[in-house]
Amino acid sequence: MAGVDLGIDLGTTKIIVYRRGKGIVLEEPSVVAYNVRSEQVVAVGHEALAMLGKTPAYIQTECPIRDGVISNHLYTEYLVKEFVRKVTKSFLIKPRIAICIPSAITPVEARAVVEAAMSAGARKVYLVDEPLAAAMGAGIDVTAPSGHMMVDCGGGTTDIAVISLGGIVTADSLRVAGNTFDEAIIKYIQSRYKLAIGSKVAEKLKKEIGCVFNPKEDVMSSVKGRNLLTGYPEQVTITQTELFDVLRPYADEIVASVRNVLERTPPELIGDIHDNGIVMTGGTSLLRGLDQLIQENTGVETRVAEDPILCVGIGTGKSFEQMDELKEGFQNAATYSH
Ligand SMILES: Nc1ncnc2c1ncn2[C@@H]1O[C@H](COP(=O)(O)OP(=O)(O)OP(=O)(O)O)[C@@H](O)[C@H]1O
Ligand SMILES: [Mg+2]
Repeated sequence: MAGVDLGIDLGTTKIIVYRRGKGIVLEEPSVVAYNVRSEQVVAVGHEALAMLGKTPAYIQTECPIRDGVISNHLYTEYLVKEFVRKVTKSFLIKPRIAICIPSAITPVEARAVVEAAMSAGARKVYLVDEPLAAAMGAGIDVTAPSGHMMVDCGGGTTDIAVISLGGIVTADSLRVAGNTFDEAIIKYIQSRYKLAIGSKVAEKLKKEIGCVFNPKEDVMSSVKGRNLLTGYPEQVTITQTELFDVLRPYADEIVASVRNVLERTPPELIGDIHDNGIVMTGGTSLLRGLDQLIQENTGVETRVAEDPILCVGIGTGKSFEQMDELKEGFQNAATYSH
């Protein structure tokens, strides 16, 4: 029987698994629900997310991957194990697993990722740099001698990189991404309206009317929360313009970082980037106006990739096909195991 090759995007908010020859086979939230009394995991993924904020006190939910890196090793291992089993439908199949890692990851953090895959039964583990995976997922030939700029805005981190010849030339990673925008909305509604809202509500509002470029005064939406003074449920109407003022400063941080990476890029590649444009991936690339804001402030045409949320997962799975050419950005993780 032919071996199974899996590409895994271990995201802060979502885990995506791509099976070579089949495409995306799993897309679940990176959430674990566990019983604090017995210390046992009771649910993972969609099932665990549905429990968020609705369980008795002894059942707690945790997102074990924060800012793109593993913050709880045990639960991440559990997640990867469960999802790999779900996809292969057996503990007996020992797949080769490629996992993408943020370019700023430390060797210790990389080791934790490898161990999670090993304990999920991997026969071999490979690490792929996230910007390379994003580019491959967007259909870019990363091994060509031409510079491309990728901006991956996820839930926990924004990774910016210039790639050429299968490697990363310049890069930056900042902890400003989807979750940052959600938290800013929660804080604003709390201080302006004395209303407590949950992160799911904030995220929904962001997706509905969030905007960081040319907001419209007549676009609005309402949110429900708990009035902090009376304790009663209450509903308020929020306009796109007021949300713009809340979100824009964080979008400006992303733009500053993109400009900084461009400034550090060798002149030979700048010409290529002007020709090829900037390609955005990750869920936060869908935040209204973020692409226009980057384009406006860099003078480089900026577009959102097709399937921006699945891009990194698709590219990680496809990386097996270019394993030999991806010398730098594709590491055989044997070097990390003891
Ligand atoms: N239409 C949309 N508008 C704005 N934000 C969106 C939209 N759709 C998804 N998002 C945001 O995208 C983020 C998730 O993106 P993604 O799935 O790429 O993250 P991730 O890969 O899990 O995180 P990371 O790469 O940082 O580890 C969430 O913060 C979500 O709110
Ligand atoms: Mg991601």
